[in-house]
Amino acid sequence: MKIAIISDIHGNEEAYNKVMEDIEQFNPNKIFCLGDIILAGYNPNYICKKIIELKDKMKDDFQIIQGNTDKMVSNCTDELIKKTKETFPCMGYSLEEDLKITKKEYINFVKNLPENKYIEINGLKIQLVHGSPRSQNENIYPELTDKTVCEMTNNSSADLILCGHTHIPCGYSLSNGKTVINAGSIGRSMTKDKMPVYLQLTIDKNGKFFVEHKIVKYDNIKVSKHILSRGFKHCEDLAGMFLNE
Ligand SMILES: [Fe+2]
Repeated sequence: MKIAIISDIHGNEEAYNKVMEDIEQFNPNKIFCLGDIILAGYNPNYICKKIIELKDKMKDDFQIIQGNTDKMVSNCTDELIKKTKETFPCMGYSLEEDLKITKKEYINFVKNLPENKYIEINGLKIQLVHGSPRSQNENIYPELTDKTVCEMTNNSSADLILCGHTHIPCGYSLSNGKTVINAGSIGRSMTKDKMPVYLQLTIDKNGKFFVEHKIVKYDNIKVSKHILSRGFKHCEDLAGMFLNE
């Protein structure tokens, strides 16, 4: 059983298409998406359309949960925009603009996604979460202590927890017996080279698994220019995040 896990696409058409080409080569039985399909990209409608098409085509073999930015956009208030503009200006202005360009049917789609899911494959219990099992907004970063990540995951009954949110890939084999893998991000990767990352998971008939992060090369400079061309206040800060350090 082969599964591709994608996360944090953030309306990035270029990255999504390149990753899907790579996933086609991997030829998985299932695809899981860990949320944040919209906000702070340049084509949220394209991504929502593609995700819904994939869900219709793959049926139960495609599973998706909601990310924190999906929730932000679909539950947005003037107060949230104001607050986000104060704390993270480019994200606040992006939120305001994305609300104007994202189709209502797509905002509704992300609004109704579940926050987490349990899936059992060959006896292996998997939980899909966006941040951590205890919070959609919690960061499972690299180099946390075993104790910290155990506290974040103790309320999960899964053997394998798949998360995203931080846009930085990492993994933990914990003393509580669980494995936690952060899939990284397709559309707003925060690795040094800003290249999209997804997960390739293989599970054998006894539930033993092997997991690998896959990095895909793409034209991040082109995407940075697309973001810049949106022209809203502080979008240059957002565009800069797509360029290599
Ligand atoms: Fe995200």
